[in-house]
Amino acid sequence: MVSTSSLPIDLAAAIPTATVEVPATWVGIEHTNLEGADALVCLLLDRIDAAVLARAPKLRVIANCAVGYDNIDLDAATRAGVCVTNTPDVLTEATAELAFALMFAAARHIAEGDRLVRSRQWQGWRLDQLIGIQLAGKTLGVIGYGRIGQAVARRAGAFGMRVISASRDPREVDRVFAEADVVTLHCPLTPATRHLVNAARLATMKPTAILVNTARGGCVDDAALVAALERGQIFAAALDVFANEPEIDARFYDCPRLVLAPHIGSATTEARIQMARLCAEAVSDVLAGRRPAHLVNGEVWRG
Ligand code: GLV
Repeated sequence: MVSTSSLPIDLAAAIPTATVEVPATWVGIEHTNLEGADALVCLLLDRIDAAVLARAPKLRVIANCAVGYDNIDLDAATRAGVCVTNTPDVLTEATAELAFALMFAAARHIAEGDRLVRSRQWQGWRLDQLIGIQLAGKTLGVIGYGRIGQAVARRAGAFGMRVISASRDPREVDRVFAEADVVTLHCPLTPATRHLVNAARLATMKPTAILVNTARGGCVDDAALVAALERGQIFAAALDVFANEPEIDARFYDCPRLVLAPHIGSATTEARIQMARLCAEAVSDVLAGRRPAHLVNGEVWRG
């Protein structure tokens, strides 16, 4: 078994039946020798396509240490007879918490306030300084009502917010954009959700609305979002994910009322340890001939 990265558990101890090769840090799929590997643990920054699979003739399982798996060409893996697994559930609460952290940061100018204090230019309390938007009494629009979307909705109740949601139906998605005070994305990146946040939908949002994206960068049309923020078409946005990570669209750096985070949705000790454990379990299961619990290309399994 090879891994493209170190993980926060001892993989060798967790998979005693396999010879385990783990680098000291993330080295990436390009620098991982796949020749004799029957199992691979990888991260969402590792793009796994047919060319990578061709380097791994013995591969039986790819354990992606993430819930999203848009970094993997699933059809190519299935054609190659390789199981692909992900790490759902264990990062649901962490990601829902970050969505709320970003929601508050955007609504209350937290990052801007931090910059102001550190600039040593803050002149003291003012009646009209960094005026934000109250979330209590507002409508939260959840796009993608799966595990994470529902965890966000549960928290919304505690903050006095009403929840509306939409998953696949484009008309429902339109309605959420037009009605919500905060729109938060929790959908996977698929051809149907690419640029789901576009100029047309942004134009229907309230001028007081906030957009939060902890899903995938590709769900947002960057140019349309920057234009909407620059024109004051919406109040603010907060992004944890970007289309071509680790590249950041250069227009984001100077964009007003935009909070940026470096893809930390699942970045808690609790979540990351459990994600690593699920990867180890998936590898152990497949190597022992057991169907892994979180197989995402079920059709590959012949028992
Ligand atoms: C993080 O973005 C994940 O998909 O786990």
